[in-house]
Amino acid sequence: MRPIPIVSMTLVMAIASILMPGPALAEMSKKQQAQYPEKDELPDLNHPLVKKWVAEIDWSKVPKLPKAKAKIPDCPDCPKGKKGVPKDACWWTCDGCVAPDDIEVCPREKAWGLTYDDGPSEDTPRLLKKLHQANVTSTFFVVGSRVLEYPETLLQQVKEGHHIGLHTWSHAGMTSLTNEQIVAEIKWAEKVVFDVTGLRTKYWRPPYGDVDNRVREIARQLGYKTVIWTKEWDSNDWQIPDKTITNKEVFRNFKWALSTIPKLKGGVITLEHDLFTQTVNVAGPLLDMGMKKGLEPMDIARCVNDPEPYQNSALLSQKKEAAKKPAAVKPAAKPAAAPAAKPLTPQAQTPLVTPKAASVPKTDDDEAENETIAAKGIKKSGTASQLAWSATCLAIVAVSALLSL
Ligand SMILES: *[C@@H]1O[C@H](CO)[C@@H](O)[C@H](O)[C@H]1NC(C)=O
Ligand SMILES: *[C@@H]1O[C@H](CO)[C@@H](O)[C@H](O)[C@H]1NC(C)=O
Ligand SMILES: [Zn+2]
Repeated sequence: MRPIPIVSMTLVMAIASILMPGPALAEMSKKQQAQYPEKDELPDLNHPLVKKWVAEIDWSKVPKLPKAKAKIPDCPDCPKGKKGVPKDACWWTCDGCVAPDDIEVCPREKAWGLTYDDGPSEDTPRLLKKLHQANVTSTFFVVGSRVLEYPETLLQQVKEGHHIGLHTWSHAGMTSLTNEQIVAEIKWAEKVVFDVTGLRTKYWRPPYGDVDNRVREIARQLGYKTVIWTKEWDSNDWQIPDKTITNKEVFRNFKWALSTIPKLKGGVITLEHDLFTQTVNVAGPLLDMGMKKGLEPMDIARCVNDPEPYQNSALLSQKKEAAKKPAAVKPAAKPAAAPAAKPLTPQAQTPLVTPKAASVPKTDDDEAENETIAAKGIKKSGTASQLAWSATCLAIVAVSALLSL
């Protein structure tokens, strides 16, 4: 069942597509999609871009850790007990180890790093509406394959001041991949986000939080900061569509987490999802609950006080300065601490790819990447597949963490 707001939005878009000239609606054409890897599949390692990306890494700095055993793309099976985890792996998934540069909390008290993973989806616009009403920005850790399906939603997210991070191309458990696969998973997701928005992402969240020192070092060399979430602040909302948890239980668990605020040293980072109707349904009430308890929701760049939320933030502001006219993609040039969402025009609420999007600054030195998808005009296509990610991973992680502690 499609929720009513989406149905009406589709109608608005259909009408707009008749009335409006120029770049049309919603989704990339088949031809545009064809330059990317298959959706939700591990990318081809023989692709020339992948070879180029792999060649740019200093592999002597990447720890030689074994690949985890797993049914790819699922979260890996953790070895039984602590002995099975390689020494020096700092494998968060299996032993809860956090590296010094992992981001798992907001430093400031009451600061609430609000994050939504696995989108964009057809339910994301409903969440955006709620966030706008609350005057709140969040970080969306987007999956490259979903960006391919909902590029216009990604543009809307950026336009409304939200912060975009990566959540890989196909949502595979990273520790179970080869070095080259890890590079391809990150870089293809980065590329599709760049092609659509002109933004070069700088923050990422490994799917399932599955990260060890091998994965971390590769991500670091690609310019990424690794974001996990605060222990006990996983909403577990992803279990609702799985029917292994009820809305009520999600609220009860969150209420319990909120009760620990007085004991916290700093702020928190929560984990929620904008992939499913059910998870977006609980996102609003969770936001209200947290704000009522005095938490201040914000995106991750603000949470860690980073004035340059993207790898090309500085470049974008320079170009914007030089052009002396407003860029289509504003948040990139804004300091992270800048005010959040501005009042929306009705047009901004409709996920159209406007001709303005075509004026996103060209910032890439790679000639293969010098045109935004938005600039090429984007066509509407009907259906969108939604993936149900393996629901077992975090449960396994929780259990194995208990066993090994
Ligand atoms: C919205 O949030 C920003 C940043 O937190 C703040 O500066 C601004 O005053 C808020 N606006 C309203 C209407 O609450
Ligand atoms: C994009 O790259 C092509 C091929 O190298 C080049 O001909 C074209 O001028 C470039 N366009 C921009 C806007 O940089
Ligand atoms: Zn995920």
